[in-house]
Amino acid sequence: MAGVEGFVPPPYPYDRLDGAKAAAERVPGGIVDLSIGTPCDPPPAVVLEALARSGTERGYPPSIGTAAYREAACAWMDRRLGVSVEPSLVAACVGTKELVAGLPHWLRLRRPDLDTVLYPAISYPSYAMGAQLAGARAVPYAALEDIDPADAARALCLWVNVPGNPTGELADLGAAAAWGRERGVPVLSDECYVEFTWTGPPRTILEHGTEGVLAVHSLSKRSNLVGARAGVYAGDADLVRYLSELRKHAGFMVPGPVQAAAVAAWLDDDHVDEQRDRYAKRLDAVRAALALVGVDAPAPDGAFYVWAPAPDGDAWALTQRLAEEAGTLVSPGEFYGERGAGHVRVAVVQPDDRIALVAERLSSR
Ligand SMILES: Cc1ncc(COP(=O)(O)O)c(C=O)c1O
Repeated sequence: MAGVEGFVPPPYPYDRLDGAKAAAERVPGGIVDLSIGTPCDPPPAVVLEALARSGTERGYPPSIGTAAYREAACAWMDRRLGVSVEPSLVAACVGTKELVAGLPHWLRLRRPDLDTVLYPAISYPSYAMGAQLAGARAVPYAALEDIDPADAARALCLWVNVPGNPTGELADLGAAAAWGRERGVPVLSDECYVEFTWTGPPRTILEHGTEGVLAVHSLSKRSNLVGARAGVYAGDADLVRYLSELRKHAGFMVPGPVQAAAVAAWLDDDHVDEQRDRYAKRLDAVRAALALVGVDAPAPDGAFYVWAPAPDGDAWALTQRLAEEAGTLVSPGEFYGERGAGHVRVAVVQPDDRIALVAERLSSR
């Protein structure tokens, strides 16, 4: 509507890759798209079976998640993360992006006197977008110690992401929980890559207690279920109660068949172990391929991204070069914050033969 002022959605980051994408598509054999973190591998058959045969299509699904859904998530946390959490401290989300982008708004409804979202300086863009959608300030931090006390006093929440997208970093969750408790700031811990931790055991903020914290988990990456949209948040009793009541009024629901499929996914670990092997091999293969063009990328501590320093710090030039010479699409690091501008992110989410093709193209230049 002409004359209307206010929020204008910014261009979606990946739309800015259209030029590089066209160049990659022109390479004989076609594009190898390593830009977006969408897994290419299939979900387990038992999950698809549950999705097709739950018989839950007619009724409204519970917004908070069925008892089976929440119990399966708790059983998974117990088995794989070593924490015992009551199902009453767990609620469903429709994948985690909607929750990440919506949380600042809902926290602000309860605390209109606060207006700041603290989030890691190099991170998944939805933390900052959630602040914008709430009309709040998005304030990045490089380290907890660097947070200005004036920003902390205005904070609706502090985000942490372990393992981190895009860097794979394993930030100290105990320190984050303590920081939040000292200041009365809820700490929201996005843990969607938790089972793809490469150095040491998986970490969850719930190891440090539930008071004042929420862990956010997704089946998108764990079980290759991006399209199904299923996740949970778990932790502080008061926050879970408040958010789950609010979300019930707002009509957020994981569809019944997806809830049934999610139960099957959380009860099975074999498929995750297989997926871990695939990603570990692909991470090595991509790092070796990048070395062919003089890019020395470290092995990540977690997640399935190679965070690669661009020669001369020019990430857009490296993006274009990889598109033209290897038909490969990657993401320039500035998508994840100004401080990421000298890197590119390479998601190892294409089949092994496509990743081998990248190396082949780069070695035969
Ligand atoms: C750090 C992080 N959090 C959350 C998400 C959202 O995942 P989903 O909405 O599929 O659960 C992603 C997806 O890439 C992510 O990288």
